[in-house]
Amino acid sequence: MSFDLVFFGGTGDLTWRKLMPALFQAFRHGKLPEGGRILAVARDDQSDERYREWLKERFQEVEAGKRPNDEEFARFSELVHYRRMDLSQPDHYARLKEWLGERNADTVVFYLATSPHLFTQICQQLGAAGLNGDKVRVVLEKPLGHDLASAQEINRVVRSVFTETQAFRIDHYLGKPSVQNLMALRFGNALFEPLWRRESIANIQITLAEGLGVGTRGPFYDGTGALRDMIQNHALQLLTMIAMEAPSSNDADAIRDEKLKVLRALKPFTAESVARDVVRGQYRAGNVEGKQVPGYLDEGKIPADSHTETFVALKTEIQNWRWAGVPFYLRTGKRLAARDAQIVINFRPVPHPIFPGSSCPNRLIIKLQPEDGLELQLMANKGGSSNEALSPVSLDLDFDKAFAHTRVGAYERLLLDAIAGRLNLFVRSDEQEQAWRWVEPILNFWKQDSTGPRTYVAGSWGPPASSALVARDGHSWIEEC
Ligand code: BG6
Repeated sequence: MSFDLVFFGGTGDLTWRKLMPALFQAFRHGKLPEGGRILAVARDDQSDERYREWLKERFQEVEAGKRPNDEEFARFSELVHYRRMDLSQPDHYARLKEWLGERNADTVVFYLATSPHLFTQICQQLGAAGLNGDKVRVVLEKPLGHDLASAQEINRVVRSVFTETQAFRIDHYLGKPSVQNLMALRFGNALFEPLWRRESIANIQITLAEGLGVGTRGPFYDGTGALRDMIQNHALQLLTMIAMEAPSSNDADAIRDEKLKVLRALKPFTAESVARDVVRGQYRAGNVEGKQVPGYLDEGKIPADSHTETFVALKTEIQNWRWAGVPFYLRTGKRLAARDAQIVINFRPVPHPIFPGSSCPNRLIIKLQPEDGLELQLMANKGGSSNEALSPVSLDLDFDKAFAHTRVGAYERLLLDAIAGRLNLFVRSDEQEQAWRWVEPILNFWKQDSTGPRTYVAGSWGPPASSALVARDGHSWIEEC
């Protein structure tokens, strides 16, 4: 199957940091379909050769294991081409059409790795140039809008040019092998299903913690914040996969229908519940993994009076029969104690204890990163005496070790799926809009709340109010118990 993959934003960070390295991995693994061309387009005027040289230099900044050697790069770069384009100029799209027409590949994928404010313009121009036929797919990177209205506007334009099945909205978390395993755990095994409900589960915690700060993305991040950057998309997508009913098949729409139902069943926020159940924070200077780091307001190009949140913790509920009354705690933040993404399922305690001492309720930890695996915590008798207190023990599964040779990275997986036309791991417009609808009362509340975010010390687990949010219900975050 021949394909042409076009990167708008061909000299941007996303392209050289994530997309090109992911394509190179697919190429190295022999997974990139034969007969492919990769076209980077951007504003600069340069030749294919100059672009390839630039790309080769950029590859030096990619982690060592993913870097091509000279011979590999020479072969890979034969697929890579470059064209200058001014994205507002119709005749530049006409020239792109000519270039694509020269070969008439089976599939054409347009990847919009540009600033999102260009999405509508690019889609309209592609439509006007007739670059929206059946074999075309368009891939849209997050952030898709900054609120419900802007997301709806992007979707309206995308839909006026492409059908929903041509639109591939990326949430790179869905491409992570660990997130694939979440589906496998729930719907490839019968073991947990009878327990996967309010009768057995006390609460569920989703943590997406980062040790890094905002780095060089200061101005972008300051206009975004943690709620838009991580909760509206990645955390909510994980929540839907944990909470959804079994889809009737493994087809994209069967899965996305079920995820949408979860989003619709999320308890809507009111001003009162935002004030009570949502904590926002901003890091100040501290120490992360032994290194002194500056506070958010001292990062490059951040206004001194910024109220942008770098941390969010919140509590929500899913209003349906399976989950009524089970708190879902979500939290994310930059400059936290560690890079750690995981989902913790805290089961209910035994109804009637018969052993001495205290007992820890069972817990299933779904580890997303840095490790990728499953840990099931049980209670066991160490064998000293029949009347001894039980001790916690763990069943630990390390998927990275078990499947080291077959794992592919998130972007590699998603790019290959986009080329192959598999939509399962992409977000549908109605899911995405519903997620915006749900976060919007929080954004609105913060807009008029002059108190701003609480501060937390870099290297901690966020403001103390985050612990208090969970403690109020008699629970605690995993690192606290
Ligand atoms: C991106 C956010 O979507 O996800 C970044 O914009 C964040 O701010 C990143 O750092 C985290 O992704 P990962 O895969 O490193 O957990």
